[in-house]
Amino acid sequence: MKIQNIYAREILDSNGNPTIETTVELLDGTKGVASVPSGASTGKTEVLELRDNETNRYGGKGVLKAVDIVNNVIAPLFKDKEIHNQEEFDKILIEADGTDLKVKLGGNSILSCSIAFCRAIANSFGIEMYQYIGMIYWGEKYSESHFQLPTPLMLVLEGGKHGNWATDIQEYMIVPNIAKFGNFSESLRAGVNVYKNIEKILIEKNYSTGVGFEGAFAPMEIKNSNEEAFGIIVDGIKRAGYTPGEDFNIAIDVAASEFYNEQENTYKIDRGQRSVSTDEWYSIQKDLYSKYPIISVEDPFNEDDWDTWTKFATDFGRDGKMIVGDDLLTTNVKRIERCITGKSANALLAKPNQIGTVTETLNAIRMATENGMNAIVSHRSGETIDDFIADLVVATPAKFSKFGGPVRGERVAKYNRLLEIENLLRNRLTD
Ligand code: PGA
Ligand code: ZN
Repeated sequence: MKIQNIYAREILDSNGNPTIETTVELLDGTKGVASVPSGASTGKTEVLELRDNETNRYGGKGVLKAVDIVNNVIAPLFKDKEIHNQEEFDKILIEADGTDLKVKLGGNSILSCSIAFCRAIANSFGIEMYQYIGMIYWGEKYSESHFQLPTPLMLVLEGGKHGNWATDIQEYMIVPNIAKFGNFSESLRAGVNVYKNIEKILIEKNYSTGVGFEGAFAPMEIKNSNEEAFGIIVDGIKRAGYTPGEDFNIAIDVAASEFYNEQENTYKIDRGQRSVSTDEWYSIQKDLYSKYPIISVEDPFNEDDWDTWTKFATDFGRDGKMIVGDDLLTTNVKRIERCITGKSANALLAKPNQIGTVTETLNAIRMATENGMNAIVSHRSGETIDDFIADLVVATPAKFSKFGGPVRGERVAKYNRLLEIENLLRNRLTD
């Protein structure tokens, strides 16, 4: 496949911050366009998100340097070049950068090209994006039977950095029992029903129903922070006519590194009012989680504390419960390898922009799932309407999606793409 041109521009993400959108144009005239998301509570070992750091423009968050790199450094590498597959394309980018954290060209510049190329090839073949990703992932073992809609971890309440610290825990999600609801669309429908009932409960309590970065309620009026949120969710599940622990379970993202104080080696909880040691934070979490139907806990401890993670994963990560590494693993195969050896978590949160290319994201999912870990494909707090991650979760063995609440256009874009894929797969089976 010959590439005609690659070019980028600066656009806005869902938080009003600049991000990069890249177009890859093939010689046959087909195009692929991709834009990349941006995290607020990022892991320390994520690839570099290249920003201009010119404070008089978008508070330093402009991405004109990244745009310039795509137009003037990356594009010439590919001009009129014959590229045979995604791996070859990504390898050229990885080698041109040559650093572990993509500090030379920027992870955002690189990823926008990688996904745009992926989309251009799918368009050129006249196939769906999930089919092309599936071909890359499965190779000779490619079969449509691998395609599977995910169980959505649907965000209903948010705090931490994403929601004005309404709660210390960053994300509260409901997890529909997809076997019980029968399919993805019915699970989504039931999840929206719970979401709407939670909204009613908040209104009755005189709590605000404004949403945070990822489309879930972030009521500042919540009193005893972390625990009250669980109670509201359980009530919401019941009021929607479902049984907690059966029809719906709860998943959380603690994002503990965000309130961990490195100097003191303490966790600052209760909206920063109380400092507790790692041991105390451990037992507070254990007590709290034993009272509610929680089946998945993400980032319960600071991202460098591998030993406490291992202890917690052994202790809590049993009976199908997931201990999810996001900041801990940063979609990085070296860290996933360490996690597998040390049994520090049993699920990977896969975010393409933590690592910077489609190929490396697929490798991370492969390493995790081939070693008995679950994989969850995830959005970021700053998103665009790019729906690549919906196709990614369907094409790979990742069984879960984490795409936020069922409101805000950039979140709904992913849910709607999943609905579309469900239809496409259904029609194909009945053809
Ligand atoms: P981020 O948050 O996109 O702000 O990093 C998402 C998460 O922590 O899972
Ligand atoms: Zn997280």
